[in-house]
Amino acid sequence: MRILSGIQPSGALHLGNYFGMMKPALELQEQGEAYYFIANYHSMTSLVDPAQRRQNTLGVALDFLACGLDPQRTVFFRQSDVPEVTELTWLLSTVTPMGLLERCHSYKDKLAKGLSPNHGLFAYPVLMAADILIYDSNVVPVGRDQKQHVEVTRDIAIKFNELYGETFVIPEPQIREDVAVVPGTDGQKMSKSYGNTIELFGEEKATRRKIMSIVMDSRRPQEPKPDADQNLAIQLLRLVAPPDTARDYEARLRAGGLGYGDLKKALFEHYWAHFATARQRRSELATHLDHVEHVLRDGAARARAVARVVLARAKVAAGLE
Ligand code: ADP
Ligand code: TRP
Repeated sequence: MRILSGIQPSGALHLGNYFGMMKPALELQEQGEAYYFIANYHSMTSLVDPAQRRQNTLGVALDFLACGLDPQRTVFFRQSDVPEVTELTWLLSTVTPMGLLERCHSYKDKLAKGLSPNHGLFAYPVLMAADILIYDSNVVPVGRDQKQHVEVTRDIAIKFNELYGETFVIPEPQIREDVAVVPGTDGQKMSKSYGNTIELFGEEKATRRKIMSIVMDSRRPQEPKPDADQNLAIQLLRLVAPPDTARDYEARLRAGGLGYGDLKKALFEHYWAHFATARQRRSELATHLDHVEHVLRDGAARARAVARVVLARAKVAAGLE
């Protein structure tokens, strides 16, 4: 089974990215042949600063390696190191109905926010389809917001296969229902674009401040809180603390007597401890950047070997070769 996923280097990774995508993807490494990449072409639709892109790309590479990506097992690379994917994007775009892209939520959301869209933003799901199809991927672990893009990929692959004969493997999205949407510090979906993130490897003081500033209601500490399970800090605590500990805090909040300040302090401590080992590993890796670069280049060579074969298959099918 081949597993594939990508993440854009559009900013520092946060708990939503970690629990929604990275952690499930890293767990899947054991179950098949995993291909994970840094979607730097995709990031061009929203980020135009080259230095920032380079820095974010390195940051994402360090994050994945620190969190347990095993480069011996898993093929880990930068999207643009396999330029074949852009050629496949063209082939796919010629079988992609406009309506399919016009219906994509992420595109519609950006339009609704008043962003004036470039063609890249509109065509984004076609590049994503090429990312998936060029490696004959079977399973694509992503957060719920990316599910529609994987469905678009399936539609494109089915259409191409109908028109040109069996060429592509039809992939399945895989969404972990238990952590489908991680809430941000304001209660909305945690997202780089909402400024409500808790960074995965944020600086200690800044992150503590961010967690302590999560807004709660004005009920007094002694009051029982029957809705304790909905509390934002409790929801986040469930992700970073052992289950018994999170249940214990929830029960204390429900019963009354636990102040929000103490709850948020506990949240910070558990967050900090949860990522302590990875944080240590990350700072070691940051002093061996030549190793990180080597991992990415080696991954690209392995990925490219597969991409060339699949692209050639598609070109023959389409009568280009
Ligand atoms: P952002 O919204 O911060 O820009 P991306 O869109 O780059 O995040 O998402 C990268 C990956 O992380 C995707 O697979 C996405 O589904 C997942 N993800 C992002 N935010 C969350 C969240 N709050 N909860 C769960 N998964 C998330
Ligand atoms: N669009 C995805 C995101 O923003 C990133 C991505 C690009 C991706 N290509 C992919 C994810 C292929 C899975 C498979 O999160």
